[in-house]
Amino acid sequence: MNTKAVHSHASLVGLFGLVTGGVLCFVLPELEPLAGRAPAVVFRVVGVAVVAWSLYSFAPRWVGRRFEWLRIRARDDRGYDFGWSWASLNAPWMAAGTVWAVALGLQLELPSAWPAWFALSLLGVGWLLGGMALRSTRRLDVAPLPLVDLLRSDHDLVLDAGCGAGRTTLALSKVLGRGSIVALDRFDAYYIDGGGRALLERNLRLAGLGDRVRIEPGDLTALPFPDGHFDSAVSAHVIDHMKQHKEAALAEIHRVLAPGGRLLLVVWVPGWTTFALANVFSFLLTSKAGWRRLAKGVGFDLRDEGTFNGNWFAVLERPLATP
Ligand SMILES: C[S@@+](CC[C@H](N)C(=O)[O-])C[C@H]1O[C@@H](n2cnc3c(N)ncnc32)[C@H](O)[C@@H]1O
Repeated sequence: MNTKAVHSHASLVGLFGLVTGGVLCFVLPELEPLAGRAPAVVFRVVGVAVVAWSLYSFAPRWVGRRFEWLRIRARDDRGYDFGWSWASLNAPWMAAGTVWAVALGLQLELPSAWPAWFALSLLGVGWLLGGMALRSTRRLDVAPLPLVDLLRSDHDLVLDAGCGAGRTTLALSKVLGRGSIVALDRFDAYYIDGGGRALLERNLRLAGLGDRVRIEPGDLTALPFPDGHFDSAVSAHVIDHMKQHKEAALAEIHRVLAPGGRLLLVVWVPGWTTFALANVFSFLLTSKAGWRRLAKGVGFDLRDEGTFNGNWFAVLERPLATP
């Protein structure tokens, strides 16, 4: 099955940004209390920033590569770089700046409608906090995986399903003893620079993991491995991006796990953290109950679950006697 590149809705967000940026640049500064005054400049500056960010979100990859020097590098203290792209990392703060500017314009133009601008300001506070939460995910000193009973032995062969630039692969390697990891990804996510492959190779080199991790390009809905190939698996912040393909991805991981093997699944679910990031859109995320249903549907047993860094995790086991 060929799934579409993740986050294809980025162009819609970009379009919204273009319109909002235009309003900030050309409409709000012309309002009666602002016209010709210094604060109007603030609106124009925020507007230009929003337009630039939107164009960046639209831009094809080669444009991103040409502006590589502009990228805010998400470097870890130890030199790892997990490459969250400039546009996605800053999206919540851009949204916060935009709604605050609109709220200010509303207050100036329609002071009696203060409940509306007050609500908008609160929305901006939410996005400010969401942006802080998002930025923390680019570092390795914010634990990328919870501590759970996952491995079967010191020699496990583990699948990192959707490894990206290797944040989860590196975390996994710390507890793996003498086992090894297969790091699989499509390497085409727009929000990781270059899709992540070059960064992954560099991070593995820095960590001295070149001989214990094998990189495998592939799609989670059609894994290039035989049945029962892996002792255990991890998939963090991947399957929640997969829309209607979630079940297919879970079923594939179930297939390639040996009976008794476990999957550590980490996903965004509706809650305060995701509300801060995506506001009402966070309610569109699959709920914990939905994930439990999906996992059960493909044959997994739920062994453990909990909340971690505002995400939900579950330890899912392929039963010894698979139905
Ligand atoms: C948010 S990143 C997470 C990377 C890493 N697991 C981490 O937590 O840092 C999601 C990754 O899933 C990958 N991905 C999404 N859909 C996929 C699919 N159908 N097959 C393989 N990889 C996929 C993307 O390419 C991206 O690298």
